[in-house]
Amino acid sequence: MPNSISGFSKLSKSKKIDWIADSYFVDKELSKQILKQYWHSNPELQQLHDEFIENTITNYYLPLGVAPNFLINDTLYTLPMAIEESSVVAAASKAAKFWLDRGGFKAEVISTTKIGHVHFMYYGDIKILQQYFNAIKPQLISAVKSITKNMNRRGGGVTDITLINKTKALEGYYQLKVRFETLDAMGANFINSCLEQFAQTFRDSAKQYKMFTDGNADIKIVMSILSNYVPECLVKAEVSCPVAHLNEDKTVSPTQFAETFLQAVKIAEIEPYRAVTHNKGIMNGIDAVVLATGNDFRAIEACAHAYASRHGTYSSLTHASVEDGIFKFWIEIPLALGTVGGLTKLHPLVKLCMEMLQNPSARDLMQIVAVSGLAQNFAALRSLTTTGIQEGHMKMHLMNILNQNNASAAEKTSLIKHFKTNTVSHNAVIEALNRIRTTS
Ligand code: MEV
Repeated sequence: MPNSISGFSKLSKSKKIDWIADSYFVDKELSKQILKQYWHSNPELQQLHDEFIENTITNYYLPLGVAPNFLINDTLYTLPMAIEESSVVAAASKAAKFWLDRGGFKAEVISTTKIGHVHFMYYGDIKILQQYFNAIKPQLISAVKSITKNMNRRGGGVTDITLINKTKALEGYYQLKVRFETLDAMGANFINSCLEQFAQTFRDSAKQYKMFTDGNADIKIVMSILSNYVPECLVKAEVSCPVAHLNEDKTVSPTQFAETFLQAVKIAEIEPYRAVTHNKGIMNGIDAVVLATGNDFRAIEACAHAYASRHGTYSSLTHASVEDGIFKFWIEIPLALGTVGGLTKLHPLVKLCMEMLQNPSARDLMQIVAVSGLAQNFAALRSLTTTGIQEGHMKMHLMNILNQNNASAAEKTSLIKHFKTNTVSHNAVIEALNRIRTTS
């Protein structure tokens, strides 16, 4: 068992790697070489990455792909996508092209409110607490003036504070529920700074409030934190066309295609086992753009799944209908995204991705990301309900196996041709590769 270590964070990067190699790796020199091989040759750029987090030992590369031809509200976009999973970018591009010829995607931001809470305990008279809250509210707002000044100037800030009684669910539990408008910022630091100030003012002023008598004045702050659940930071994206125009793949009629597609969506609406996979496919498209634009994909994921469960069972994030011969497919999803602050101005690639997206506002980015999720889901359902997804996946899988086995360009050409008419499996590819190698 490796030894524990104290003072690890104070070691230099090389010494950290030495310790890890000594503790865990069989081939120490080779492992060190591999780790260092991913260091950037430009020391300044490397330092920038080192300082994003703590105890950085190297860089972990993900491919950055692009999916062109996304027509969104009559503007053409090329989406940057950072993702490790093969087929996602290809599927996005295919869906973009399909809808480009059918009027593109329409998207609209429904609301942009973010929420944070001061969670606190109080066991006294609720009426007095409510009176105290009403009296202190203006003071709470003025206590955060220095934090909100710039945001207010740009039209954002704190939009509302309410006292919420949660004692039915947990004895003594109350919240200050605060609503925020953070404009182009994701706003986590802004929101959390405001909340911590609210908590302090709320607790400290209670000590001087004359209506509170002994014991009643005990407001115990538990924590102050934004919520990543933002059901009022909502965006909708949609595609539609006459059913007759859905025809492309001649193996099924447009009507059959629409019918089976709608059934697939309905299944995801009522069956959580399917809904999770269905939404996972949506998140393939969403996370890839969220990551490429330096946003927090864990927050986006957590929120999306909570929203998918808002009616009590986990359900689909997309919906579809056919009315009067018109096929409609849409997504409604909360997305708290930022285009200023955080990594957006720090990471050189994120900056470029933003430029590729024509420097979107947070509202624009919400629309783009929602479209990416919808497109991905369209591509997945289209394959699943017609050819199945393995056909496309196996093509990518074939390339991965060939690359893992250092196939030459000639070997690749020959095996891609071979597997056009043969089923791809790991064994089949290895055997075919060995056959070529032993006969040449
Ligand atoms: C794979 O990453 C995503 C899919 O499974 C999504 C789906 O089933 O809808 C293809």
